[in-house]
Amino acid sequence: MSDDHTHVQEFFGARAAHWDSRFPDDGPAYAAAVAALGLCAGDRVLDAGCGTGRALPPLRAAVGASGVVVGADLTPAMLEAAVRAGRDRAGWLLLTDVAALPLRSGSLDAVFAAGLVAHLAHPAENLRELRRVVRPGGALALFHPVGRAALAARQGRRLTPDDLRAEANLRPLLAGSGWRMTSYTDEDDRFLALAVRED
Ligand SMILES: C[S@@+](CC[C@H](N)C(=O)[O-])C[C@H]1O[C@@H](n2cnc3c(N)ncnc32)[C@H](O)[C@@H]1O
Repeated sequence: MSDDHTHVQEFFGARAAHWDSRFPDDGPAYAAAVAALGLCAGDRVLDAGCGTGRALPPLRAAVGASGVVVGADLTPAMLEAAVRAGRDRAGWLLLTDVAALPLRSGSLDAVFAAGLVAHLAHPAENLRELRRVVRPGGALALFHPVGRAALAARQGRRLTPDDLRAEANLRPLLAGSGWRMTSYTDEDDRFLALAVRED
């Protein structure tokens, strides 16, 4: 177990039981972000860092019964909370690091990742692993239900120019990992960057 894993598991393990009750009104924002991915019936999609699985029901609704929905997370307590909430009915849950996914290359149509990218130990490498499992032309959504400034204020910190999710930093980070950013939104009530896997 690496220090990176231990830190993530301790941090989110302590928050898992109350995660959903802290953010009870986020459902429509998740549904809208999933809609922006443009999934079709029968598509195969990964929720990377799925936590308690808040995105799994809208992802399942988007791909239908013939689609495949997989939620992957490193923190057992988050996945246990997902099961308690019945979200394992919407998708398969995998206890795994997104840095090394037990999924075949090119096997997915899209990856949805909410609140994940700022927690990645090695963002460039980890985004490249997400690319590996997506087919060429497949999509990536990096989402957060509040924008960067609102999140920084909530956490009592200042936004700095080196912020990973700033457009000027995220675009080259994604490009270096094989993703072409196609849209970028950073508003008070939504952060959403969409990207497409380059061949
Ligand atoms: C801010 S929470 C967001 C959870 C969920 N996506 C949501 O929107 O409610 C970040 C989640 O990412 C998970 N995580 C962080 N680093 C990870 C990694 N390398 N591999 C898998 N999951 C990771 C954490 O365990 C945590 O559940």
